[in-house]
Amino acid sequence: MCGIVGYIGDKNCLPILINGLKRLEYRGYDSAGIGIITNGDSVLIKNKGKVSVLEDRVGEMNLEAPLGIGHTRWATHGIPNETNAHPHTNEDKSLFLIHNGIIENYRTIKNELLKLGYEFASDTDTEVLVHLIDSFINRGNDLCKAVQLTLNEVIGTYGIAVIYKSEPDKVVVARKGSPLVVGLGENENFIASDVSALLAHTKQIIYLDDGELAVVSRDGYKVKTIADQEIEKEIHEISMTLEEIDKGGYTHFMLKEIMEQPDSVFNSMRGRLLFDEGDAKLGGLSDVTNRLINSERIIISACGTSWHAGLVAEYMLENIARLPAEVEYASEFRYRNPVINSNDTVIVISQSGETADTLAALREAKYRGALVLGVCNVVGSTIARESEAGVYIHAGPEIGVASTKAFTSQLIVLALITLLVARRKALSADEGKLIVNALRRLPEQISHILNLNSSIELLANEFKDANNFLYLGRGYNFPVALEGALKLKEISYIHAEGYPAAEMKHGPIALIDENLPVVFIATKDSTYEKVISNIEEVKARGGRLIAIASENDDEIDRLVNHTIKIPDTVEMLRPILTSIPLQLLAYHIAVKKGLNVDQPRNLAKSVTVE
Ligand code: G6P
Repeated sequence: MCGIVGYIGDKNCLPILINGLKRLEYRGYDSAGIGIITNGDSVLIKNKGKVSVLEDRVGEMNLEAPLGIGHTRWATHGIPNETNAHPHTNEDKSLFLIHNGIIENYRTIKNELLKLGYEFASDTDTEVLVHLIDSFINRGNDLCKAVQLTLNEVIGTYGIAVIYKSEPDKVVVARKGSPLVVGLGENENFIASDVSALLAHTKQIIYLDDGELAVVSRDGYKVKTIADQEIEKEIHEISMTLEEIDKGGYTHFMLKEIMEQPDSVFNSMRGRLLFDEGDAKLGGLSDVTNRLINSERIIISACGTSWHAGLVAEYMLENIARLPAEVEYASEFRYRNPVINSNDTVIVISQSGETADTLAALREAKYRGALVLGVCNVVGSTIARESEAGVYIHAGPEIGVASTKAFTSQLIVLALITLLVARRKALSADEGKLIVNALRRLPEQISHILNLNSSIELLANEFKDANNFLYLGRGYNFPVALEGALKLKEISYIHAEGYPAAEMKHGPIALIDENLPVVFIATKDSTYEKVISNIEEVKARGGRLIAIASENDDEIDRLVNHTIKIPDTVEMLRPILTSIPLQLLAYHIAVKKGLNVDQPRNLAKSVTVE
């Protein structure tokens, strides 16, 4: 979603802001802007479109400033244009403010401000903040106090940064529901919504929590609550490197991240496999293992691709650990008045660890006394910090908006959690060893699948002009069908649906004709014969068939137009392998259609609003 970056110190802030915004573009990117204060002057530059447009304009102006804030916007209120872009400012342009989140009561505040004579330039909810701060400053408050008083009146979510011409020695930032970090340097300090914007400058980070505000100056920082209580914050050392967030020679982050999967999957299980015991060791769960295995029920809550990982985990937990499990969209869970009790474990899955709906589900589950575990990728993210216990997936930074390596790593961690529980219930050491050995073989098997890249690219050529796609699978491969369809929709804008294969005859079969590509995930597992019958049904109606099949399956070739053969593994781990050709298929179709694969229209990597 929106990106925030800010600087105060001895250097010229402009290149720092521009480069920081480029790092953040993946979060949201319909417009961008910066506000700087230099030699008693304030300058505002903003535009619709990419940070590169902003960069060109800034370059022409030849500016220097020790203090500034920058923003990339993902529109919520008001169309993407220059006026609605951030920073927003007051009448005399002495205040600049950037915001990520939604101010729910902005209409009420706006009406009050209109009565006081304030004029509004934009259609955004954000603009009320800057005028309200201005009104408190006019009543004799300093910037920090004015921000606190403003936030007391606000209902909604925010990560904000504010600078003020009359107090050019500080940036004031505050958070509720949208991430904000302070980066510490020497004779300089930084603020950002995401550590990736600061990696080039510092690894010393302070994470603000909800309801906190920081006054950041060249030489230090002070953190307090919105209600003005001072707080001591821990300084975290970030291990992420700049190389990890670069494209590393690939044309797109998405392709790089797909290709990284042998390593990312390995990293997710590194040090966590107990070969002799056929078990898993998960340090993050050691304090809660007993509560977890004695849970009456597991509820998994997540959004998007993470929700699909949850669906696979439902099969794993029920089949292998014999624990009842259910999966729910976080956005539905939070408003459904769910029945949760203290014997339940709620697992929230989130790559970013910042998704607003998933965070709300976590808080509701905690409130109701369940054990709440987080499965996150981003270290130090809000969901990771608010979960009672959890497991990082360690997939490394994922920049492409369409999630790929995070999905397979989520599946690894969910398999490890399943193994941990199952070995303390009904699973024998020998059965556990089979799973551990299968896990160990996965990186090599993934490399083998990635070698099929060029043949999948040829397939993409043939199918790139289709208007619709159907993805079908059963059992563990049903969520893979959903994920395959989601990948295609997200980046190629082709309408695609995923269905359980047997459900096809209850509706989707009506769509089948010679124009409809149907992708079957048809590996040799317990439902293979049934899936073959479904394939026959599609073939009889002239559908164009693609199958993801097991490498020892020669029979399927006579039924379908194209097969992608993949190595075999134990049934519960198959989604880790079957999803990869579907990532590549979606990727190549989108590239062939000339689309922006890493930053598809309308989507954001991390959705921090409801
Ligand atoms: C957004 C992204 C999806 C992602 C979903 C959940 O919609 O575009 O790719 O799957 O959020 O994100 P999370 O970070 O919670 O896994």
